[in-house]
Amino acid sequence: MRANTAQTVLEALHVRKSFGGVRALRGVSLELIGGETHALVGENGAGKSTLIKIITGALQPDAGEIRMHGKVVEHHSPAHARALGIAAIYQQPALFPDLTVAENIVNTRRGKGRRRKVHWTERRAHAAKVLEKVGARIRPDTLARNLSMPEQQLVEIARAVDANASVLILDEPTASLGEEDVEHLFRIMAEMRTRGTAIIYISHRFEELFRVADRVSVLRDGSSVGTYDMAGITSEKLIHLMVGRELETVFPKHDATLGNPVLDVRRLSSKQCGVKDVSLQVRRGEILGLAGLVGSGRTQFAEALFGLAPKDAGEVYINGKRVEIESPGDAVREGLAYLPEDRRNHGVVLDMPVAANITIASLQRVSANGFIRFEDEEKTAKDYIRSLTVKTPDSHTPVANLSGGNQQKVALARWLMTDPKILVLDEPTQGIDVGAKAEIYHLIGRLAQKGTAVLMISSEMNEILGMSDRIAVMTKGRIAGVLSREEATPYKILELTLGLGSSSGQEGA
Ligand SMILES: Nc1ncnc2c1ncn2[C@@H]1O[C@H](COP(=O)(O)OP(=O)(O)OP(=O)(O)O)[C@@H](O)[C@H]1O
Ligand SMILES: [Mg+2]
Repeated sequence: MRANTAQTVLEALHVRKSFGGVRALRGVSLELIGGETHALVGENGAGKSTLIKIITGALQPDAGEIRMHGKVVEHHSPAHARALGIAAIYQQPALFPDLTVAENIVNTRRGKGRRRKVHWTERRAHAAKVLEKVGARIRPDTLARNLSMPEQQLVEIARAVDANASVLILDEPTASLGEEDVEHLFRIMAEMRTRGTAIIYISHRFEELFRVADRVSVLRDGSSVGTYDMAGITSEKLIHLMVGRELETVFPKHDATLGNPVLDVRRLSSKQCGVKDVSLQVRRGEILGLAGLVGSGRTQFAEALFGLAPKDAGEVYINGKRVEIESPGDAVREGLAYLPEDRRNHGVVLDMPVAANITIASLQRVSANGFIRFEDEEKTAKDYIRSLTVKTPDSHTPVANLSGGNQQKVALARWLMTDPKILVLDEPTQGIDVGAKAEIYHLIGRLAQKGTAVLMISSEMNEILGMSDRIAVMTKGRIAGVLSREEATPYKILELTLGLGSSSGQEGA
């Protein structure tokens, strides 16, 4: 609920911003009231992050203005924004990799009057306290570069919370957080809100928006569509406002005929990454969903399978033949493809064009006699750009210039077009808007239909239930159980996740 003393804290008025020929914002306005949580939604590339960067002074607008407590903000910059009490968590974590967690948290604190001597024991203790407050079990003297994605996100949250801001901006803060951490974040947000902090909240997860937001503003193609009370709007209406058209069924249930096991993993263990005795099979044409909490070992299992982490026991069979996969190169040769969770570091090459990013893993398809046929590359890339609705001026644009969600689509396109025997997807639709999700499910379904064995790690219950032929649930590095499509319910999955239930068998058929 909004505080009674509701008054406008921050306004963006008729903001315009172009990047070359791309009109990212075409006159966007937004009003933020003290104590409210204001959701900002729109498709990938609608302009959300650009607006945020203008509010935080990281980008300068071409026209329009930002007002704080009614006064126009001149000469805006990130330092100025901090001084005004605006804190932000950006979509791409922006920690200094070579500084420790404590240094990352403390360095951006607002100065308290006169300069004080740097007191490291004090700062570390302070950082530890802030980390505890956001529920992060991270040691303050860890180097930021050694943190996992969720840990980086928690440190960013700690840093923003510590700034004690009057405006807190969260750009997809929960993208890689587990359920427990999400709950923790929501509690902190509620607490800050009662103290009058205004929050801008960006997320592609609708359930979250309905839980936390008081109002919602919709952007479409760089324009404001409108601002609505959350209580008076349905998700159907919201989707319609975002995409401006009706969507087809989100989960196109494909009818693939399941064949022989393509991937057969027997008792795989990796001490180093906490994977214990994992056995599972994926058949030709099958989509096996891998459910579980963040941190349950799903990503680690995928990494061990793909040769990114050492295995110390167990066997992997592909089409009945024992294979040794010691490196990603081995994995690719054996017909595996892997879309990692951390796309920022491993998913795309930021300064390479969109087309090359898409075709790089399947160059043989666009080459003849060892030469890349650029027309073929161009054509193939364009097909994927169209079908996944990648918002980009053209196929030569560097991926760095795309919005977060559109970068994800490019990473996904790369692996979808390799036509692998086995496709491992880690959170395939994370950060992707509702319109494009449907298309991605469609493409995954089509690959399965053509005979690919798909192993899909996902934390989205709808996605797991809607797409999977069978669902394996992981807990603490082990498979807790396998459910058939027919027997799977959210409750049963949760039971296994929490280590309570039992299932038809360790391995299923
Ligand atoms: N540095 C840049 N150079 C060129 N174009 C850019 C740059 N930053 C953003 N854009 C373009 O501006 C548009 C808006 O991007 P923005 O990142 O604001 O979208 P978004 O709403 O945050 O999307 P997402 O949900 O995918 O994060 C996109 O078309 C994007 O490609
Ligand atoms: Mg964005």
